[in-house]
Amino acid sequence: MSNDRLIIFDTTLRDGEQSPGASMTRDEKVRIAKVLERMRVDVIEAGFPIASPDDFEGVSAVARAVTDSVVCGLARALERDIDRAGEAIKPAKAGRIHTFIATSPIHMAHKLRMEPDQVVEQAVKAVHHARRYTDDVEFSAEDAGRSEVDFLCRIIEAAIEAGARTINIPDTVGYNLPGQFGTLIEALLNRIPNADKAVFSVHCHNDLGLAVANSLSAVQAGARQVECTINGLGERAGNAALEEIVMTVRTRRDMFACDTGIDTTQIVPASRLVSTITGFPVQPNKAIVGANAFAHESGIHQDGVLKSRETYEIMRAEDVGWSANRIVLGKHSGRNALRTRLKELGIEFASEEELNDAFTRFKVLADKKHEIFDEDLQALVSETVASETGQHVLVSMRVCSETGEVPLAKVTLSVYGEERSAEAAGSGPVDATFRAIESIVDSKAQLQLYSVNNITSGTDAQGEVTVRMERSGRIVNGQGADTDIVIASAKAYLNALDKLASVVQRAHPQLGDV
Ligand code: KIV
Ligand code: ZN
Repeated sequence: MSNDRLIIFDTTLRDGEQSPGASMTRDEKVRIAKVLERMRVDVIEAGFPIASPDDFEGVSAVARAVTDSVVCGLARALERDIDRAGEAIKPAKAGRIHTFIATSPIHMAHKLRMEPDQVVEQAVKAVHHARRYTDDVEFSAEDAGRSEVDFLCRIIEAAIEAGARTINIPDTVGYNLPGQFGTLIEALLNRIPNADKAVFSVHCHNDLGLAVANSLSAVQAGARQVECTINGLGERAGNAALEEIVMTVRTRRDMFACDTGIDTTQIVPASRLVSTITGFPVQPNKAIVGANAFAHESGIHQDGVLKSRETYEIMRAEDVGWSANRIVLGKHSGRNALRTRLKELGIEFASEEELNDAFTRFKVLADKKHEIFDEDLQALVSETVASETGQHVLVSMRVCSETGEVPLAKVTLSVYGEERSAEAAGSGPVDATFRAIESIVDSKAQLQLYSVNNITSGTDAQGEVTVRMERSGRIVNGQGADTDIVIASAKAYLNALDKLASVVQRAHPQLGDV
C-alpha cells in the first residue's frame, strides 16, 4: 500500500461491541459489515472469536459475507486464541489476525504478572503462530500510550522480525495528549530499525475526549492505519469516530500527506444502522452524523449559507450521505418500490417472507403516516428482523390517560408463543405500560435509561424509544419505533427483554480469562 493511503480499520463489531449493551447478533454483524464493505473500509475487525461460540460464528459469518474488505479476528497472544481466530477468518477472501499483549509497566505487573522479557517472548511466539494462518498479521502493544518508549521499540522490532505486517499503538485508556501521542509515533518510526517493514497503526480511546485528535496527530507523524468505530462507539467513552477521522483528512487535505479510500456517502446510513442495531442514539450535535451537524438555525448563518455555501459550511451534507429528509415512498407504493429503495439503502432480506413481513408493516405505517422517509424504512427493517426472533411480542395494548385520573394500561403479549394479558396503573402511560408488562413477565431486570427521539420531523413522525435494562450485571439496549410513543415504548421494552433472554456468557479480551 502506498504511503499516501490511510488505511481505515473499523472495529465497531469488536471494540464497539464491547460497550455495555451494544452486543449484536451474528446477522446484525453481517448487516453492519456489508455497509462497511460498501463504504470501502479497508479492514473490518469482526470480533474476538474465542470469547464464545456466538462470537466465533459472528466473525466467520462476516468472513463469508464480505469480499472487498479484509476481515480480521482478535486474539490475545495465546495459541488457543490465535487458533480460534485463524479458524474463524478461514472463509475470508482476505483475512487478518490481530494479536495483542500489554506492554505498560502497570499492565505487565498487575494484569499479566509477567516480566518484560517474558512479554517479548510471548509476543514473538504469537506472531509466529498467527503467521501459520495468514501473512496478514497485526500486533498490538496494549496500553502503548503508558508504555516505556525503549520497551516499545524492543518489542515492536521483535514483532516485525517475527512477521507482523501491521504494528498497532493503542492508547488503551485514553490518557495521551495529541502532541505527546504524535511524538511517540514519530519516535517509534525513527528509532525502530525495521519500522519500514510494517504499517504503523493507532487505536485511541476517548476517555478525555481526545481519541480523534490523538489519532490525527499520529497520522501527521506518519501512522498509516487508524482504528476507529462508527459513531465513536466503544469501550467506556468509546473509540475514535470513523466519520470524524475520514472527514477531517478529506476536508483538510492541506494538512495531511495521505487520504482514505472511503466512500463518504455511506457514512450517514452506516451511522443510522449502527445506532438502530445497538440502541445507542446519536447526539444531535455529534460531528458529521448528528441531526444538527448541517442544520443552520440562526438567521445570520442561514443568510450566509444561502448567499454562498462556503461562508459557514466546510463540508457538503450530501457528501456524507444526508438525503435531506427525502420522501421516498407513500401509501400507494408497491412491494417492488419498497424492495428497490431498501436495496439502495444497502438492505437486502434473507428471504421473501422477511420482505413480505416488512411490506405488511410498511402498509400499516403508510396508512398512519402517508409520507415514508429513509429513516422510517430503516426502523421498520430493524423491527422486521427483531420480530423474527421475538420471544416477547406485543399483541395489543390499550392505555387510558386523562387529566386528574391515574393512567391505566392493559397489555396482551405473546410470551414464547403463549398469549397473556395484564392491567396496571402507573404515574404516566409509559410507566403503566411497563408495569403491566412486568406483571406478565416478572423479568427481575432494572430499567436504567429511557429516551425518546423523533425519527423524522413533524408531529406525525415515528418516535424511536430506547430503553436500557440491567439484570445480574448484564446490560442490554432495546429499541422500538411507532407513531404512538407509548406503543414504541412497549416495543422497546419487549425488544430489551428478548435481548436479555438471549445474552450469552462471553469473555472480554482485555479482562478476565476465557
Ligand atoms: O484498546 C485496546 O488496547 C484494544 C486492543 C485489544 C487493541 O482494544
Ligand atoms: Zn480498544
